[in-house]
Amino acid sequence: MTVKKAQPGELDPIETASRDEISALQLARLKWSVRHTWDNVAAYRRKCEAKGVHPDDLKDLADLGKFPFMTKDDMRDNYPFGLFAVPRDRIARLHASSGTTGRSVVAAYTRQDIDNWAALVARSIRAAGGRAGDMVHVAYGYGMFTGGLGAHYGAERLGCTVVPMSGGQTEKQVQQILDFQPDIIMVTPSYSLVIAEEFERMGLKPEQISLKVGIFGAEPWGEGMRAEIEKKLGIDAIDIYGLTEVMGPGVASECIETKDGPVVWEDHFYPEIINPETGEVLPDGAQGELVFTSLTKEAFPVIRYRTRDLTRLLPPTARAFRRIGRIFGRSDDMLIIRGVNVFPSQIEEQILRDPRLSGNYQVIVTRDGHLDNLEVRCELQREVSGKLSATDVQQIARELQHHIKTIIGVSTLITVMEFNAIPRTQVGKARRVFDERPAQR
Ligand code: DLL
Repeated sequence: MTVKKAQPGELDPIETASRDEISALQLARLKWSVRHTWDNVAAYRRKCEAKGVHPDDLKDLADLGKFPFMTKDDMRDNYPFGLFAVPRDRIARLHASSGTTGRSVVAAYTRQDIDNWAALVARSIRAAGGRAGDMVHVAYGYGMFTGGLGAHYGAERLGCTVVPMSGGQTEKQVQQILDFQPDIIMVTPSYSLVIAEEFERMGLKPEQISLKVGIFGAEPWGEGMRAEIEKKLGIDAIDIYGLTEVMGPGVASECIETKDGPVVWEDHFYPEIINPETGEVLPDGAQGELVFTSLTKEAFPVIRYRTRDLTRLLPPTARAFRRIGRIFGRSDDMLIIRGVNVFPSQIEEQILRDPRLSGNYQVIVTRDGHLDNLEVRCELQREVSGKLSATDVQQIARELQHHIKTIIGVSTLITVMEFNAIPRTQVGKARRVFDERPAQR
């Protein structure tokens, strides 16, 4: 598609402001947010008191480093409503994250929070090239998950025609895309490939599909996956980032003209990168754990929330705000295999080096006595599936095993399967890692 670079009049003025203007706005909002949290969230005030800090200590943006972190444990300990900063009757909506272990995290929004969220998702869709009048097919799940409704309100705010399809029912999704001819799809990257496979099965070519842009997030994905999605659907694939605790989709989002990592909407969220072991704040460019402080949220403010997402902060390019690099892992999805740290994203990168393999894969970890075993199950692309000799398939497995050993440093058992042998996730996030080792005592 011809890249629709945003025209100056189309952007919010702050998107092109100077760093001084941005910092001044951030400091004013930060002071409000920290004070608001201190005044209204007893659990966080206690943490500040224990550390001997007070909102008056915040004179400069760097002073934020003196304040305690909020963590997932704080959310769990104060489940469901203990961290909310407004009375229940001012809360307009609740969402929750699914949470694979333990209690889910509940997020709350006032009418104003919902309004800001819609404006930021609208800004994100515009950064991806979307404009009023475009048709947006939303295939993120609707419900407690923030994906569906977050995308929906943003697309409506921009003035788009919204198709609230939600996840699942792949055949119906595809038929509807063919019948309605949407311009944009908002969906998880893994499910977009399921949709692409259905188009392939029907014998349709990318140029016969109306979609021009896809806005993908909610799970990790890399450049290999971007290339595969763009080729199979004939679209530009844009990265959108967010999390329930901080808002939902649209905390950061990529610009179509540069496709160089999601731009953090810094007028609403203040980002930091920390060393996950020591909590020390790291300079821009260094890899570490992403931490967010909300600057405008009323119902559920977060101060220095540790996301567990590992990435780095990059300098501004298409907008005046800083960007984040690819999320290369979460501090809690790092596997330690015989002492080697392995992120599933590194394995995905190696799989996608081979054009005969698809982005569908599973990583299975088991323990044999004292030794960890890592099995990688991957799948042939439809075009080659069933057409390769057993020797060719063995060769693919050997090459992948060699790449993973030399680049990541672990030995693996590779199983190359025929197309469609690995079950697809129809709704929600793709589950790639199955750690079947007995829990450590
Ligand atoms: O996944 C919100 C969302 C919905 C984002 C739709 C984008 C699109 P949670 O369910 O709370 O919220 O999961 C948040 O998902 O901490 C990351 O680990 C991961 N994640 C979200 N977006 C991306 C992305 C939504 N673009 C968690 N790249 C986050 C990599 C992502 N990981």
